[in-house]
Amino acid sequence: MISTGSIAEIQDLISEFKSEGKKIGFVPTMGALHQGHLSLVATAKEKVDIIVCSIYVNPTQFNNPDDLKKYPRNIEADKDLLEKNGCNILFLPSDEVMYAGRNTITFEFGDLDNVMEGQFRPGHFSGVALIVSKLFNIVLPDFAFFGQKDLQQLTIIKKLVEELFFNLEIVTVPIKRETHGLAMSSRNERLSKTEREEAKIFYNALLEAKSIIKEYHSANKAKEKVKSLFEDHIANLEYFEIVSDKDLLPKTENYLATDTVLCIAGFIGNVRLIDNLYVNDI
Ligand code: PAJ
Repeated sequence: MISTGSIAEIQDLISEFKSEGKKIGFVPTMGALHQGHLSLVATAKEKVDIIVCSIYVNPTQFNNPDDLKKYPRNIEADKDLLEKNGCNILFLPSDEVMYAGRNTITFEFGDLDNVMEGQFRPGHFSGVALIVSKLFNIVLPDFAFFGQKDLQQLTIIKKLVEELFFNLEIVTVPIKRETHGLAMSSRNERLSKTEREEAKIFYNALLEAKSIIKEYHSANKAKEKVKSLFEDHIANLEYFEIVSDKDLLPKTENYLATDTVLCIAGFIGNVRLIDNLYVNDI
């Protein structure tokens, strides 16, 4: 695996592979890698010849400076994992390379970023869209791999690709979970043993809501149930929504259609967790 923080160097490497007719797959990350990230790499391996990963903790997508400061960083362990899992090129840029003091462009996605995460993390998706656009323009991949874990991010990135004519295909990778159901996340590292146990409530709430939707076709009943599960619990519910994965707007009918997804977010202590589940998932 070749690691570099230089745009010129990574572009040279990639254009050489492209001139040999190799397909390029790109997996952008913020590091502190776990099996969820590695499942993106494994999916890429099946589809492309050359896997490019990036590790960059992007400051413009953090609305909370404390969250940025506390974001876990394990660069040596990450490099090791990527090398072992078949990454060919690792892009590790500095803030200077990615922004050089510039941070002037903002993005707005209308209804897509006014809801759910957008409502609770102002400016977050603008920062994501900015860094992902920069990275796409540097790497020029044929395929880019994103996790369903960040469902709203995925919908917004698909919109970005469509509207800005990025010449690449987005591939969605399902959520990787711990054995007891907690969605894997770099933030889980900040949970104590007890908190990790308590964090199961997010997935359990999704499962309960899903069975209520299937049985009663009622969003209200599902919402009431989720709310009641969080009462007297150390986890704080921020939102629970039943939306379409197309426009992220609340569903009011056709709950059993393939686009219906249940989305949840909240805090355990000061650690913010998100998760989601398709009503049609097994
Ligand atoms: P990060 O949180 O590091 O996630 C990188 C990618 O891994 C994202 O596509 C995310 O959805 C995916 N991922 C995380 N946990 C997962 C899990 N349990 N199962 C499957 N996939 C999972 O998302 C970001 O970084 C950033 O916003 C980024 C796109 C890199 C832009 O800075």
